[in-house]
Amino acid sequence: MARLYTLFLSFFLLFLVVLSGASYYPGKRYKTFSSDSPLIKYEGTWSVARSRQYDSGALHITHQRGAALSFNFSGTGIVWLGNCDRFHGYAQVILDDEAIGTVDLSCDVTSPLNRRKLFETSDLDNRPHTIKLINLGSRLRHYGVGVMDIDTLVVVPGKILDYSLVDSHLASSQRLDRLNLRQNQGPDWKLTRRGTSGVAAMQLAIVSPTLAIIIDKVERNPLTVDGHPAWAALYNLDTQAVTPLRPASNSFCAGGAFLSNGTLVNAGGNAVVQPDFGDVDGSQGIRLFHPCNSADGEGCEIYEDPKSIKLASPRWYTTVLKIQDGSIMILGGSRTGGFINDQKKNNPTLEYFPRKSIHGSGGSPIYLKFLEDTLNSNLFPIAFLLPTGNIFIAANNDAMIYDWQRNTEERLPSIPNGVRVTYPMSGVGLLLPLSYEDDYKPEILLCGGSTLDDRRDPKDYSSQEPASKQCSRMVVTEQGITRGWQVEEMPEARIMPDGILLPTGQVLILNGAQTGVGGYGNAKDQIGQSNADNPAFTPVMYDPQAPVGRRFYRDSSMPTSSIARLYHSSAILTSKGNILIMGSNPNLDRSNDKYATEYRVEVLDPPYMFQERPVIRASPRIVDFNERFEILLGGKIDNAVVAIMDFGYATHGVHANSRLVWLRHEVDYGTKLSVAAPPNNRIYPPGPGWLFVVVDGVPSEGAQIMIGDGKDPAAN
Ligand SMILES: *[C@@H]1O[C@H](CO)[C@@H](O)[C@H](O)[C@H]1NC(C)=O
Ligand SMILES: *[C@@H]1O[C@H](CO)[C@@H](O)[C@H](O)[C@H]1NC(C)=O
Repeated sequence: MARLYTLFLSFFLLFLVVLSGASYYPGKRYKTFSSDSPLIKYEGTWSVARSRQYDSGALHITHQRGAALSFNFSGTGIVWLGNCDRFHGYAQVILDDEAIGTVDLSCDVTSPLNRRKLFETSDLDNRPHTIKLINLGSRLRHYGVGVMDIDTLVVVPGKILDYSLVDSHLASSQRLDRLNLRQNQGPDWKLTRRGTSGVAAMQLAIVSPTLAIIIDKVERNPLTVDGHPAWAALYNLDTQAVTPLRPASNSFCAGGAFLSNGTLVNAGGNAVVQPDFGDVDGSQGIRLFHPCNSADGEGCEIYEDPKSIKLASPRWYTTVLKIQDGSIMILGGSRTGGFINDQKKNNPTLEYFPRKSIHGSGGSPIYLKFLEDTLNSNLFPIAFLLPTGNIFIAANNDAMIYDWQRNTEERLPSIPNGVRVTYPMSGVGLLLPLSYEDDYKPEILLCGGSTLDDRRDPKDYSSQEPASKQCSRMVVTEQGITRGWQVEEMPEARIMPDGILLPTGQVLILNGAQTGVGGYGNAKDQIGQSNADNPAFTPVMYDPQAPVGRRFYRDSSMPTSSIARLYHSSAILTSKGNILIMGSNPNLDRSNDKYATEYRVEVLDPPYMFQERPVIRASPRIVDFNERFEILLGGKIDNAVVAIMDFGYATHGVHANSRLVWLRHEVDYGTKLSVAAPPNNRIYPPGPGWLFVVVDGVPSEGAQIMIGDGKDPAAN
């Protein structure tokens, strides 16, 4: 027996070398309950294996299908530790009487690996819970009935202070994945290549049912115009044709938003870097792209008059946000290019376009203390217009509410666990869908980023430093703020992710890297020039309505791309309902080194693209606030819900202006919906949008609509 045990140990050591770090030992703050604990109740036939490698020397094992254990605990999370090998099967997890998923207990080895995290859940309400684990039996008929065992249960007490302690191993995150891996009920997801973008797609927006606008920096792109490389283009969603545009100035790291009259504004940029390409200094650049009614973009152009239409101050990495009067707020940035922000180059102000003479500014920039307090990692702040008319802003590790009409700042709780969410520790922020059903209660979701020290010498950064898995979520009401940020975890860490609101109200998280930071040319171990490595190739879905622990999921058909989408990549929802994915260029100029400047375009089709979809046959071109209007539908309309969406403007993982508002509606006759426009300009700021009708989770294509009066924004 002793010899057998030694033999087993040596086997085990071998695997330990291969899969080092995957055994899990909880921190001191956690309460552990070994399988011998009298608090664990067993049902069915179980045996006990005794060995020093297990907590209290015991491992409870069952080979019986339907055998179960249950356990009452009080806390915010629980982790199940046990063995895995090829003979383990599936288990069902029941939490508080609800079946929350199936866990695959197996791993592809014949000698068991111990102390594996077989299941974990966190971010539960801090109260008593009951967990029940049921053996579902075999995965491979060949091996007979599947084994299920338990070494220890680990309870996460009270508030989670250091989330990284709960889950710091890739192996366990794969478990989390598997838990929420759903079998496709209907058609599969599909990822397809759709031509090339001609210019690197640093910035991306949808400007019509057929056209996307791509805006890059001045660099040696293959697409040319007027005898020099182009740095902006229109991409045709139907034909994949790319047509160059002619911005005058360098739009390097600008932001964008649509005004109330439908004109897209691109603001900020950089100085001239290629004098022979004919560009002018873009650091105070304002570039206008008026509504384009030609399906192929014929005659549509970027308008720029750098001498007379420009920002009041230079801004690089600025966030551009449409506000309720239909104008835009241009927020933060640095005065010159560089890497991370600092006191010297910081521009801790905001301004408006058209300019506003408020708070005694006379149209010049207005100081925001928040943008000074949040140095250094505070570029491209995450900002959203709230239904109160105030602005939510997150930068670095902090957040606040800005009342722009009174020029006051109200600080919010910091983002938990030291996670920074803005450039170069770029995460993604979204305002979750607003609904009349809960009085437009606003909720912010922040995902990814990094806990790296932003005061460290950037030369000290490593491309291998793990990014953050954390998503933080807060309801931005008095009560929600008191409750604070609620944290949960993505199946994998991401820096520079994109977050896309789908017309179904769910969120798709894609792109980015699992290690490193944004930017290029800084990290001590750059990959080519990239500060980041280990691309996140597989998107993940997040269902904001699902209970905690079930929100992240992947259908079994979720595609994995082979194209790294790192710094200067982008993704955006199209009016067809699918996701356009472009770019990646962690390089000073066009480069073929790893990670090369990426021109290949991909389109990701969710399963609903292949289902029978509702069809909007007729809808108005423009509706004012609170107005009633009709949508004529083809196809079935039972259980129809109606969304108005702004697809936002994608740049550097910032999806400013992304918005989905569920609209109040009634069914008139069989094929007509009577819909109420957004009640006011704070719920949906005036300007262009897309209407979707969603029936049983399947959306129509989007119909373009103008909300408000379509007039020029207010100026004063
Ligand atoms: C958990 O608590 C409930 C309610 O008090 C009780 O009925 C049940 O038997 C307990 N289960 C275990 C495993 O202790
Ligand atoms: C929209 O308004 C802006 C700001 O007043 C103006 O510069 C632009 O020309 C307007 N667009 C159209 C299409 O008139």
